[in-house]
Amino acid sequence: MTAIEKHTINVTAIRSQFPILSRNINGKPLVYLDNGATTQKPQRVIDAITQYYANENANIHRGVHTLSQLGTDAYEATREKVRAFIGAKSTHEIIFTKGTTDSINLVAATFGRQNIQAGESILISAMEHHSNIVPWQMLCEEKGAKLNVIPINDKGEIIYSEYLKLLETKPKLLSVVYVSNALGTINPIKEMIADAHSFGVPVLVDGAQAIQHLAVDVQDLDADFFVFSGHKMYGPTGVGILFGKEVLLNAMPPYQGGGDMIKTVSFAKTEYNDLPFKFEAGTPNIEACICLGKAIDFLNEIGLEAIAEYEHSLLTYATEKLQNIEGIQFVGTATEKSSVISFNLEGIHPYDVGVILDKMGIAVRTGHHCTQPLMAFFQIPGTVRASFACYNKFEEVDKLVEGLTKVKKMFA
Ligand code: ALA
Repeated sequence: MTAIEKHTINVTAIRSQFPILSRNINGKPLVYLDNGATTQKPQRVIDAITQYYANENANIHRGVHTLSQLGTDAYEATREKVRAFIGAKSTHEIIFTKGTTDSINLVAATFGRQNIQAGESILISAMEHHSNIVPWQMLCEEKGAKLNVIPINDKGEIIYSEYLKLLETKPKLLSVVYVSNALGTINPIKEMIADAHSFGVPVLVDGAQAIQHLAVDVQDLDADFFVFSGHKMYGPTGVGILFGKEVLLNAMPPYQGGGDMIKTVSFAKTEYNDLPFKFEAGTPNIEACICLGKAIDFLNEIGLEAIAEYEHSLLTYATEKLQNIEGIQFVGTATEKSSVISFNLEGIHPYDVGVILDKMGIAVRTGHHCTQPLMAFFQIPGTVRASFACYNKFEEVDKLVEGLTKVKKMFA
């Protein structure tokens, strides 16, 4: 059975929920292959934004009036949806943030400042996004601590024996990506967490590129922290999640001070609120939080297992088709991969490839993908990256291949 025959989800029905997918770009039907940067939004998410402002707008956790109660209920209902979606024990462990970057910065500024001292170390991997490098560098600079990096091999996989050696140095935290945004590598995260724990090392998992592709159960993984963004999982921008084990979150100092994160305030002393509110100072992005719940409904209706299976078929098909293009060099060829293909065409700058594909209505990301150290490892300025979502079609892979063939002709 071919990959096309095998797929199990109704892509036509899914696509009909995304108005943007029927528009033209530069006179050509949009082929959107930049889902690693952000996914498109289904109608229900778009409608929920309007519905909130047209009918329900009020601040939450503050008013006795009906609208405030409605808003509070919808906001807290989403927290419960997120809890169930990632298998957390309690809604106390679900903190609304601005996104993955904000979640990592929160942990660095609280858990990090509290637990990491001069001479100690933090462990990351060589395939991290800048958002999982820079906050730790800033912390290490402040504390006089050291940032250690797990090396990778030429396929873009963690060198596990080196990882185990680095664990022996007893870092105070391992902060590691589940799925690489630039390469698509799926790290053996459950095994990594188990090994880290055997050395007493807590683990933060950057799940930004995993949450929309793989079923996640934070209790099964035994992650200490798990972070992700709404906009990469068919939800709105400006909202993300920090999951943390309750015992860790309780022991951490607050991140920002302000309304909602307090129980009582006097000029002499402030008593902080309980979880999860302790970490949610100020009026949150209410409509984005509520709409994230709609995105989770969308994912649950299709099912992450079905999505993972379908996207894997797309990846296999695209890899087979693309490798027939003469002079293509894949960057990241891990055995376990998510639906991301990074590549270069010999002698053509990735930027030029991206600009010409755009003229054909094909959206890909080009450049370093916020992973400059990773690009330095591969000794390249950047790549062209096609990243797939559950609404992409096999025909769109064919269009990408046709587009790249034209690019090659133009540069021949
Ligand atoms: N981190 C996002 C990406 O990989 C923006 O494109």
